[in-house]
Amino acid sequence: MPDTNKPEIPFASMLAPLAGVSDLPFRRLCRKFGCSLAYIPMISAKSIVYSSENTEKMLAMHDNDRPLGIQFFGREPDMIAKAMEITSKYNFNTIDLNAACPVSKVTKKGEGAGLMEDPKLIKKILKVMVKNSDVPVSLKIRAGWSQTNVNAKEVALYAQDAGISALIIHGRTRAQKYGGRVDFNIIKEVKGALDIPVIGSGDSFSAEMIKQMMDETGCDHVAIARGALGNPWIFKETEELLKTGKIPERPDIAEITETMIEHLNAYVDFYGEYLGVMIFRKFFGWYTKGFYNIKPLRGRAFLTSTQNEMTDIINELHGLKTGLRRSIENDPSFPGITD
Ligand SMILES: Cc1cc2nc3c(=O)[nH]c(=O)nc-3n(C[C@H](O)[C@H](O)[C@H](O)COP(=O)(O)O)c2cc1C
Repeated sequence: MPDTNKPEIPFASMLAPLAGVSDLPFRRLCRKFGCSLAYIPMISAKSIVYSSENTEKMLAMHDNDRPLGIQFFGREPDMIAKAMEITSKYNFNTIDLNAACPVSKVTKKGEGAGLMEDPKLIKKILKVMVKNSDVPVSLKIRAGWSQTNVNAKEVALYAQDAGISALIIHGRTRAQKYGGRVDFNIIKEVKGALDIPVIGSGDSFSAEMIKQMMDETGCDHVAIARGALGNPWIFKETEELLKTGKIPERPDIAEITETMIEHLNAYVDFYGEYLGVMIFRKFFGWYTKGFYNIKPLRGRAFLTSTQNEMTDIINELHGLKTGLRRSIENDPSFPGITD
């Protein structure tokens, strides 16, 4: 980032903000595999100000969980400034404004991707954020609202004018939500128009796909989202590919199961046994993408609520062939948010 007093992003890739996923145990696991910058899930500025949501678990952090970013959604500059003041005691290393969330509940209030329709308001909010922040402020946008209104470049220029330090762009429109393929052209266009670092987002499912995005768009960094679900190795593999040019080895079954058990145990420690196992169920599905004959074990994993039984089920994976984990990019069942 340009201001020398403010931290730069030392790695090519980072963990994107992921609602319902990028909690403390998940971030710590990703960091073990080389993730540098990570974000807590997006948080409503209003909910911070009025303490209307249980924000305690969302704001949980650890000394080893740095650098760490917070991402606000909202559309009232004063509300966001207040939320920044309240959260300043957590010393986040960077602050992002969300203009990318496609969920109707959010956009119908003109928040998230709804902000893309009002670039001047985005600039106004960002000016207030930059003025009130000691750390770099960024904006996360989409390509535009829909295919007939692709205005990422205009929004990005307004945002740069407001004094932000970096821009994150998910190269899909709001109308696309998480479907279809990411549009590298719009990321390239935005990168070409800005002087500040541009962080690309979309279809970052493997080290090779991340390198391809960086090569084809010229973006400075990549925010990894669905590609990290059940796949924390993606961080070290990306750094390895970018440094050496060699396609990294995928983890073997022993490493996968060891990591799954570590992940499960971290969730149980953080959320308690029942909730921890329930949340881990979806990760079981993600870790086992591409496994042959996985259905019966998945069926059992989705029914259990005890740590011991989940551990036994994970250990039974040893008998299965892993298949090609990279095939997830073509798997239409891979997670996205629909509303
Ligand atoms: C489960 C899930 C939660 C997400 N939560 C957020 C969020 O809180 N804030 C945000 O800016 N983007 C969020 N996103 C969007 C991602 O950060 C990313 O931009 C998007 O998934 C595109 O990248 P991908 O195609 O590599 O997954 C979320 C995506 C998913 C799948």
